[in-house]
Amino acid sequence: MVKSDIVPVTERGGTGAVPRTGVTDLARRSYDFHRHVGRFSTVKVWVPDEEIADAVADVAGVSTQIYDGGNDLPGDPGTVGFYVPPFVPTRQSREILARMPNLEVVQLQVAGVDTFLPHVPDGVVLCNARGVHDASTAEWVVGAIIAAQREFPGFAQAQREGRWDWHMTDALTDRTVLIVGYGSVGAAIERRLVPFETEIVRVARTARDGVRPVSALPELLPRADAVVLIVPSTAETTGMADAAFLSRMKDGALLVNAARGPVVDTKALLAELTRRRLRAVLDVTDPEPLPAGHPLWSAPGLFITPHVGGSTPASRRRAIALVRDQLARHVSGETLLNVITGDY
Ligand SMILES: NC(=O)c1ccc[n+]([C@@H]2O[C@H](COP(=O)([O-])OP(=O)(O)OC[C@H]3O[C@@H](n4cnc5c(N)ncnc54)[C@H](OP(=O)(O)O)[C@@H]3O)[C@@H](O)[C@H]2O)c1
Repeated sequence: MVKSDIVPVTERGGTGAVPRTGVTDLARRSYDFHRHVGRFSTVKVWVPDEEIADAVADVAGVSTQIYDGGNDLPGDPGTVGFYVPPFVPTRQSREILARMPNLEVVQLQVAGVDTFLPHVPDGVVLCNARGVHDASTAEWVVGAIIAAQREFPGFAQAQREGRWDWHMTDALTDRTVLIVGYGSVGAAIERRLVPFETEIVRVARTARDGVRPVSALPELLPRADAVVLIVPSTAETTGMADAAFLSRMKDGALLVNAARGPVVDTKALLAELTRRRLRAVLDVTDPEPLPAGHPLWSAPGLFITPHVGGSTPASRRRAIALVRDQLARHVSGETLLNVITGDY
């Protein structure tokens, strides 16, 4: 459906896209400024639903169509210049990139770019939704830790069985939480944990004031009561929480994975859970979705949610606002936010 069609013809410059951090990997993601200069046309935009189409309807210089990520295309993908895949991307919504020779920008509604990155052609700018999911995901992490420490899943089971199962539980108060991945979501988690009177230890790829480097993990893991994984899924972080990592965690400690499933070695975690040495809360799993009958479903001391950390109306509102802002920036040649560069 065309939401806003023919508009006054304007001459546009480049997006001026710059990397969020570090140096742009020019070979892979440089923005072809010259393709833009002197062009007199509208930008063809594909968005995944009516709500986003409505939100961008007043952006001048765009012609919008809705593509929901399925098999039915709303028009010729070859004319699309700015593409917003669905909140939960489909296989087709990734593969369609190969049929978009005039694509300039892909704006994701999610923070993790791992499943899209391999499909993005050279010269196309990929932007994620860094920041959009911080509040919701951080809220999930705090909720997950409290649920585990205060044994909510066990009490819910006792309620179903009509049992008054009084016993003392652990708490978040006075406990040490190690945040592995002190980025946008990691910092939001810390802000929410502070009022619970916890000690926070921060780890990122690189050391900086108050943030320890990833190489310090062997020394830090044995001190933590809860370890929160909130790193991107990359070659470096795949299998990061392996048998050696998990073995450094103290007896009875809690592993919380809000990052991506492959960051944890599922087999190694299963071994620790089965011997009841560690507990875990997983929002993401490997494989995902977790198939029926998978041993994780019945592992002791494990609470699973189906990748819902960032899936809330708050994130949705913020994602829509980001899409609108980015499209307006693109059309007017302003700097784009959240540009993913080679060193993701
Ligand atoms: N469950 C959900 O629904 C949900 C929602 C939102 C996000 N996520 C996941 O969370 C990830 C992080 O999101 P974000 O927006 O916080 O990203 P971000 O702002 O880019 O922060 C990522 C953090 O991870 C650190 N990091 C990267 N590689 C690392 C490594 N090998 N070892 C240790 N730390 C490493 C980075 O360190 P430096 O600061 O030193 O670069 C940075 O602090 C996303 O990529 C996504 O996969 C999940």
